Amino acid sequence: MRRYTAIQALFLLQLFFFSSYVFSASEVITAPMEQTEQEALYLVIQAFVGEWWNGSGLYPDPCGWTPIQGVLCDLFEGLWYITVLNIGPVFDNSLACSQDARFTAYLFELRHLRSLSFFNCFSSSIRQPATIPSQNWQKLAGNLETLEFRSNQGLTGAIPAGLSLLINLQSLVLVENSLTGELPQELGNLVHLRRLSLACNQLSGPIPASLGDNLVDLLILDLSTNSLAGPLPPSLGNMNSLLKLDLSYNNLNGKLPGEVEKLKNLTILDLRNNNLSGGLSQSFQGITSLQDLLLSNNPVGGNLMEFRWENMRNLTTLNLSNMNLTGEIPESITEIGKLRYLDLSSNNLSGSVSPKFAALPCLNALYLNGNNLTGELGFSAEFYQRMGRRFASFDNPSLCYRMKPRGHVPVGVAQCKHQHDVPISNLDSGNKLSDKNPNQKSSFMASFGLSNSSIAGFWWVLLMQAAAAAAFLLLMLA
Ligand SMILES: *[C@@H]1O[C@H](CO)[C@@H](O)[C@H](O)[C@H]1NC(C)=O
Ligand SMILES: *[C@@H]1O[C@H](CO)[C@@H](O)[C@H](O)[C@H]1NC(C)=O
Ligand SMILES: *[C@@H]1O[C@H](CO)[C@@H](O)[C@H](O)[C@H]1NC(C)=O
Ligand SMILES: *[C@@H]1O[C@H](CO)[C@@H](O)[C@H](O)[C@H]1NC(C)=O
Ligand SMILES: *[C@@H]1O[C@H](CO)[C@@H](O)[C@H](O)[C@H]1NC(C)=O
Ligand SMILES: *[C@@H]1O[C@H](CO)[C@@H](O)[C@H](O)[C@H]1NC(C)=O
Ligand SMILES: *[C@@H]1O[C@H](CO)[C@@H](O)[C@H](O)[C@H]1NC(C)=O
Ligand SMILES: *[C@@H]1O[C@H](CO)[C@@H](O)[C@H](O)[C@H]1NC(C)=O
Repeated sequence: MRRYTAIQALFLLQLFFFSSYVFSASEVITAPMEQTEQEALYLVIQAFVGEWWNGSGLYPDPCGWTPIQGVLCDLFEGLWYITVLNIGPVFDNSLACSQDARFTAYLFELRHLRSLSFFNCFSSSIRQPATIPSQNWQKLAGNLETLEFRSNQGLTGAIPAGLSLLINLQSLVLVENSLTGELPQELGNLVHLRRLSLACNQLSGPIPASLGDNLVDLLILDLSTNSLAGPLPPSLGNMNSLLKLDLSYNNLNGKLPGEVEKLKNLTILDLRNNNLSGGLSQSFQGITSLQDLLLSNNPVGGNLMEFRWENMRNLTTLNLSNMNLTGEIPESITEIGKLRYLDLSSNNLSGSVSPKFAALPCLNALYLNGNNLTGELGFSAEFYQRMGRRFASFDNPSLCYRMKPRGHVPVGVAQCKHQHDVPISNLDSGNKLSDKNPNQKSSFMASFGLSNSSIAGFWWVLLMQAAAAAAFLLLMLA
């Protein structure tokens, strides 16, 4: 309803302007355009928004005094041409696409287009699923730099190889559509691309080696959330301008290629949720520019100790959760001064936890749960308080904490058994555990030297504590 009233208002407004135009035609100067260009524009938009849309009636001067939302023009040798076309509800007052939205060949008559985008145009409710036109793209090759299809659930079919004729493209974004099929290896012909984002579709098959071989100006490669399979092509290492590489949420397998070391400007590497194996590649430590390294949920395996983490000075986010990692947590991780977020959970890490983590100035989250860590956690109550739930070390059966009087304690970790470290009972934390995980409660109780039925043990501990405190007091006074 709202849209209709808006359209009616717009129509009346146009009518007003149009009638004033009729009444004083000699005073109004329209922007000069080729008639074919103007008619092509009307027909293109009409094909997307519906037959009711009478462009020549509503917008008689589209590059002049009746601009169309989402359409921009530029002057070439005294004539106006369309250079930017945004179809779909990008702006509040944009024209929405109809259920019959379709491509027309007139689109390819707009040869001065630099930027073409379709947002939420082919929705899931369209009557007939649309596909990206496979032909005629060469007609736009001279000028088109940006092509974008975003959030078009009704856009299906494969990425046509014909897009590779757009040799001046700098940005190709086909995100959140329903595209299927394999990536055409011809995409490697788009040698001026700086951004290639095909995320959130149902694309399958391998990543073509041609991408890495040719797209050496690429800054952003995002193929995440598809069904891509096979190994990472070693040629990815040739994209040496790359800032962001996101291949997360696919079915990629095989080893992490050592060639990624050549990506000297990379700041984000996201390979989460794939099926990568074969150990942590030594070469990552060559990418000292990395800020975010996200490899979680891959059966990568290997040993964290093999890595010289202290070289990765700019690392802020390190997610190595659920990677089948073994070995100890290397001390060098505690030397990454900018680290904010560290997730080592759900691995098979052993050994002790360095108390130096508490000294990392930016550390905001530390997840060590679900490992085989042992020994005492050497953090202060202030550390546990500061971190709250962003510190997790539960599900490490042989890990315990030393307790400070009435301080914060880590959730789901047993108290160390040494009597001299046990100043007072902490039934509060025991209760907190119980609503989290009953197994953790029982292990807590067991290590506390206290079973549910033997409250006597509890009083004994208290007594020992009192004795220890008294001994301590005597020592101080002496
Ligand atoms: C579109 O508008 C023009 C100008 O007002 C008018 O001449 C033409 O008949 C209209 N076309 C349709 C299909 O309504
Ligand atoms: C890496 O970034 C630097 C600084 O932004 C730039 O000068 C250099 O050309 C980049 N390297 C590559 C291979 O693009
Ligand atoms: C992951 O790769 C292994 C071989 O390394 C294979 O056996 C397994 O089926 C793959 N898993 C998935 C979910 O594709
Ligand atoms: C680390 O970050 C700083 C500041 O952003 C930057 O100047 C420096 O070049 C980065 N180091 C590397 C190895 O990329
Ligand atoms: C780290 O990985 C785990 C498992 O994939 C995920 O739950 C968590 O949100 C990730 N954290 C970040 C910051 O990516
Ligand atoms: C984890 O690594 C061990 C070797 O350390 C291997 O035997 C096992 O198959 C790996 N598990 C998975 C799920 O890859
Ligand atoms: C964890 O590593 C130990 C050796 O350190 C090995 O014996 C054990 O099987 C591993 N557990 C899992 C679940 O991979
Ligand atoms: C934990 O490590 C011990 C050796 O320290 C090993 O015997 C045990 O199997 C490990 N547990 C798991 C679940 O890997």
